[in-house]
Amino acid sequence: MKIPPLVIGDYSFPIPLVVGGMGVRISGPKLVAAVLNAKCLGTLTTMCLGDMTRPMTKSEFVATSREALQREIATLRAHTDRPFAVNIMGALSNADDLIITAVEAGARIIVYGAGIPRTLPAVVEDRHVALVPVISSARLAELILKLWKRYDRVPDAFIIEGPLAGGHLGFSFEQLEHAEDFSLEKILAETLRIVRPYERADRKIPLIAAGGVYTGDDIGRLLSLGASAVQMGTRFVATAECPVADTFKQAYINARTEDIRIIKTPVGMPGRVLANTFLDRLEHGKIPEPVCSFHCIGSCERDKAGFCIAERLVNSFEGRTEEGLIFCGANVARINRIMSVQELVDELMTGLSTHP
Ligand SMILES: Cc1cc2nc3c(=O)[nH]c(=O)nc-3n(C[C@H](O)[C@H](O)[C@H](O)COP(=O)(O)O)c2cc1C
Repeated sequence: MKIPPLVIGDYSFPIPLVVGGMGVRISGPKLVAAVLNAKCLGTLTTMCLGDMTRPMTKSEFVATSREALQREIATLRAHTDRPFAVNIMGALSNADDLIITAVEAGARIIVYGAGIPRTLPAVVEDRHVALVPVISSARLAELILKLWKRYDRVPDAFIIEGPLAGGHLGFSFEQLEHAEDFSLEKILAETLRIVRPYERADRKIPLIAAGGVYTGDDIGRLLSLGASAVQMGTRFVATAECPVADTFKQAYINARTEDIRIIKTPVGMPGRVLANTFLDRLEHGKIPEPVCSFHCIGSCERDKAGFCIAERLVNSFEGRTEEGLIFCGANVARINRIMSVQELVDELMTGLSTHP
């Protein structure tokens, strides 16, 4: 198969591969620069940057996050001048502030997940900044297209995250038990039908398919079903340039399919994670009451979930993996070694070019 470029709004990427935002701090400047330099699109994460360990007021939290994001973007721009994306988690209480900060600092693509981007076109009026919602159903794509009519705007692309993806999942526990009924391929086909009437000859709405993509052949299959690109996460955690602690990468290498769990996180959504000491203690009610002074997530359910998600994601990022939350995709058990980003992209593109 010939490798088609990915075009999102004003921006073009020679390789139709996006590395998704991964919090906390996983898709940081080092990983994103390597991905951009490999001619793919990389997505900076914005969740809980800066020192989140000290008690803070809400306004200190907002200022700390903003300054840390400015530093992350400056570091990235010191390594590459290619256009990049920034991932905003809609559930964050400071989401709008992060969006404005990112755009002012030079982000050209805003990817909005874990929430409905009802007012995003009003927050980002500059039409040269591409707006890309993350969806898990064609219904949500339709809702966003209708909601944005009042702004006379359509999304510059959609990312469709299917049930095999890493991180938070936009499905109910029941739906995840019958994942075959909600397959990425089905949602892609339905979303293609929904977006078509909103497209013009000079303005396509590319669909980027995510969740469980592992080989170049997987990419070829999704492109032949109508996707314009794929988004990947899990495989790029196991790269030399990914800034997570080695123990996190080793947990991926050691992972077996039977170690994967789906849990409810304080965000109020299911998340796919690896079993560890923390999950055992959580199950047996042995986790100390979480304390929080700054409420990073507006509608945080930490009392119901029994833990603070930021604290647990930072733990695993920094190497206290047994006391952290280890997000992963459904294909994590296939990972058996660490590669460089370029090596991984080359492997995927070789597989794609030999796809019929
Ligand atoms: C460790 C990890 C953390 C993630 N964190 C986020 C996040 O903060 N925001 C987000 O929109 N998606 C997040 N994701 C989802 C990825 O951006 C991507 O869509 C997903 O991993 C694709 O599925 P795959 O892992 O099977 O390739 C995360 C995924 C992983 C593996």
